[in-house]
Amino acid sequence: MARPKIALIGAGQIGGTLAHLVALKELGDVVLFDIADGTPQGKSLDIAEAGPSGHFDATLKGTTDYADIAGADVCIVTAGVPRKPGMSRDDLLGINLKVMKSVGEGIAANAPNAFVICITNPLDAMVWALREFSGLPHEKVCGMAGVLDSARFRHFLATEFEVSMKDVTAFVLGGHGDTMVPLTRYSTVAGIPLPDLVDMGWTTQEKMDAIVQRTRDGGAEIVGLLGNGSAFYAPATSAIEMAESYLKDQKRVLPCAAYVEGAYGLDGFYVGVPTVIGKGGIERVVNIKLSKDEQAMFDKSVDAVKGLVAACKEIDGSLS
Ligand code: APR
Repeated sequence: MARPKIALIGAGQIGGTLAHLVALKELGDVVLFDIADGTPQGKSLDIAEAGPSGHFDATLKGTTDYADIAGADVCIVTAGVPRKPGMSRDDLLGINLKVMKSVGEGIAANAPNAFVICITNPLDAMVWALREFSGLPHEKVCGMAGVLDSARFRHFLATEFEVSMKDVTAFVLGGHGDTMVPLTRYSTVAGIPLPDLVDMGWTTQEKMDAIVQRTRDGGAEIVGLLGNGSAFYAPATSAIEMAESYLKDQKRVLPCAAYVEGAYGLDGFYVGVPTVIGKGGIERVVNIKLSKDEQAMFDKSVDAVKGLVAACKEIDGSLS
C-alpha cells in the first residue's frame, strides 16, 4: 500500500520541524513547499540524509511548484510570517491573509481531498480565510492551537505538581490569543480536577491563576526568549498529533480551531473547541457544558476572533 502523502506548505522553522517529525514517525512521504527557492529543497535533502542513521523510510521532496502536492492526504500550512518581540498574533493579519489566498487556491487546485491543518497566525481568522479561499468542506479544514495551548498548560501543571505530564490532562478553548480560555474544571491530574487539587492542598489558587496566565502568554514568552521568531518545536508536535489522528482514524479528542455550527451558541464560526478527529476529518464537536463564568470568557474570546474576521473581510472584499 502506498504511504500517505503529507504536504507541508511553508518550509520555515515549523515546516522543517514538521518534515523531520513526519519522517521520524514514518507517517508518510513528505512534500515540502515554499516560495523561497532552495529552502524546501535543502531541508528535504538534509532530512532525507538523516534517514540511514535515524532508521526511517520516507521520501522527501522540496518544491516551489504547487503541482507537486497533487493528491496529498494531509496539508499542514505554516506559510506566512511569524511575530517578532512586541508584536501580537493579530499584527500579522494583513500580510498572512494574502498568503492564505495563494495557499487556499493552491490546495483547492491540487489537493482538494486533503485534511488541512492551518498553523499560520492569527490562527482562528487565518483558518477561516483559508477555508473560504480553498472552498474545501468545513470538516476537512481546521486549525492547530488548542493542542499547543493545552500542552503548555499541561507542562506547567506537571512541573508544579511534580508528576508525569502523561497523567495531566487539560483543556484550553476559545481563540488562540490573549483571550484563550484555560478550563481548570476540566483539567485534571489522573482524573482529579484542578479545583479539587487546590482543596487537597497540592497547590494554591494564586499559583493556579499564575499558571493560567502563563499559559495565555505562552507564545509571547517564547517570542521574547528567541528574539527573532516564534515557537516551532511544540507547534509542530501538536499538529503532528492531529495529523496522526486523521491518518490512523484514531478518533482522538483534541481541542482545535474547528467550524462550529449550533454548539456553544455559535452559528457557523471557527474557534477553539474540543473535537474528535478521525478519517472523516473533524468528525464531531464536543459540546461541553460551560459555567456562566466560563461561557462569558468564551464569548469574549469569540468576540475577539469576530473582530479579526471582520478585519479580513475589510482587507479582501471577496471574503464578504
Ligand atoms: N507560500 C508559501 N510559503 C510562504 C509564503 C507563501 N505565499 N509566504 C511566506 N512563505 C514561507 C516563508 O518563505 C518561510 O519559509 O513561510 C515560511 C514561514 O517560516 P518562518 O518564517 O520560519 O515561520 P514559522 O516559525 O515556521 O511560523 C509560521 O506559523 O505559528 C505560526 O505565527 C507563526 O504565522 C507564523 C507561521
